[in-house]
Amino acid sequence: MDSPLDPLEHVADLFTRILLERQAQEAREPVVRPQDPDVLRSLLEIALPEEGQDLETVGQRLSQLVKYTPSTASGAFFNQLFGGREPAALLGETVAAALNNSMYTYKVGGAQVLVELELIREMGQRVGFEDADGVFTPGGSLSNLVGMLLARDRARPQSRTEGLRGPSLRVYTSNQSHYSVTKAISMLSIGSDHLVRVDVDARGRMDCAALREAVRGDLAAGYQPMMVNATAGTTVLGAFDPLDEIADVCEEFGLWMHVDGAYGGSAVLDPGQAHLLSGCGRADSVAWDAHKLMGAQLSCSVILVRERGLLAQSLDENASYLFQGDDSTLNPGTRSIQCGRRNDALKLWTLWQALGHRGLAERLARFRRLALCAAQIVRDAPDLELVRDPEFINVCFAVEGVSAEELCQQLTERGLAMVGYALVDGRAVVRLVLVNGQATDEDLRALMDRLKEVAAELRLATAGRLGVVF
Ligand SMILES: Cc1ncc(COP(=O)(O)O)c(C=O)c1O
Repeated sequence: MDSPLDPLEHVADLFTRILLERQAQEAREPVVRPQDPDVLRSLLEIALPEEGQDLETVGQRLSQLVKYTPSTASGAFFNQLFGGREPAALLGETVAAALNNSMYTYKVGGAQVLVELELIREMGQRVGFEDADGVFTPGGSLSNLVGMLLARDRARPQSRTEGLRGPSLRVYTSNQSHYSVTKAISMLSIGSDHLVRVDVDARGRMDCAALREAVRGDLAAGYQPMMVNATAGTTVLGAFDPLDEIADVCEEFGLWMHVDGAYGGSAVLDPGQAHLLSGCGRADSVAWDAHKLMGAQLSCSVILVRERGLLAQSLDENASYLFQGDDSTLNPGTRSIQCGRRNDALKLWTLWQALGHRGLAERLARFRRLALCAAQIVRDAPDLELVRDPEFINVCFAVEGVSAEELCQQLTERGLAMVGYALVDGRAVVRLVLVNGQATDEDLRALMDRLKEVAAELRLATAGRLGVVF
């Protein structure tokens, strides 16, 4: 069908329609309608056509796809470490896509580069770096990889040209850290066998005595200790490693200190929680995802580096066809793994403009308040067991007589809520994470009510199968 509209107007119109339809869907429909992928394939027009379709038809097909996509902005979405939909961030994200500037040079990015530099400066200061270097990356995993790359290049300056030689390098991380650290050490050819997993205390924080002992042992065995990855906000428990103590160890042994704040880095925005990152300014590098707690759309992550010049030292290449003219500070491509690079900074900037420092602090404080409220609901329920007092905004609990895996699966299958489970002390528990800016107190209470109802049903079914008489 031909449209009288200019194609861009038509696109804007389709976008608005799809967005509003989605919002309406979120208000009246379940968070997810689980479907078998083969059924979905038959329902939707996913195959690519021989002949091009008009925009209206493309819009209709797109709108169908959207209907069968889980609603991460629904008030019943509590899965993983992101969620919600911040309107101001969506504005920046949409405009960035419309502009389509590659963020490698000032020549191509123009004012957009200044936005990225301003965010790096502000976020650097927040973590305690006076004059931070940094760059946006496609996610926390990549930010961690870059942090480890810099550490490797400091420990072995020749590795960039000659490859790795000499005694094996060693990296230390808590046994609660994110799997991206294991991926990074493999990708950098140090080898995952050289990742030393340090024990944690009862709260899930790295045990610094064990760390010191491990470093000493490795030195005696002829290894070269290189870096400690401290986690600020572990994925499951939300624990913060003691950064000041880790910094002491790093100083004592001359190790690079990287803070994986992909998840918990945002705590610095709330004066009530910033103490969790005390000592962060003594680190060499920090990874921080704005697509988690801050609510910028995926993906939006930064690697911040205390000393200027190190990113370029590890990542800059001669490319006279690309880097032309400007001072290299203005060319983020000289500090990035990527060549062509999407603009992930703009959505964070529009979000920050809309909320201000104060609004962001309130957002973080609200998540914490919700987490404490969830923990209290758990404590008050006789059949729920809080496995740890929440360190941050993760609430992990067991449900009497019910497998966490089955419970979470049932909640999803029935479209009631999306919430995940994880292993704590070797047993699967529900891991509720309060990072969805759209989720209200009522949503949280509704989730907990549904969860308790489904758990009671599952218990009855199990008792029935086992022939238990009450
Ligand atoms: C502690 C921690 N570090 C790193 C990551 C990886 O971040 P991303 O998903 O942005 O790659 C995560 C993701 O959940 C995380 O929890």
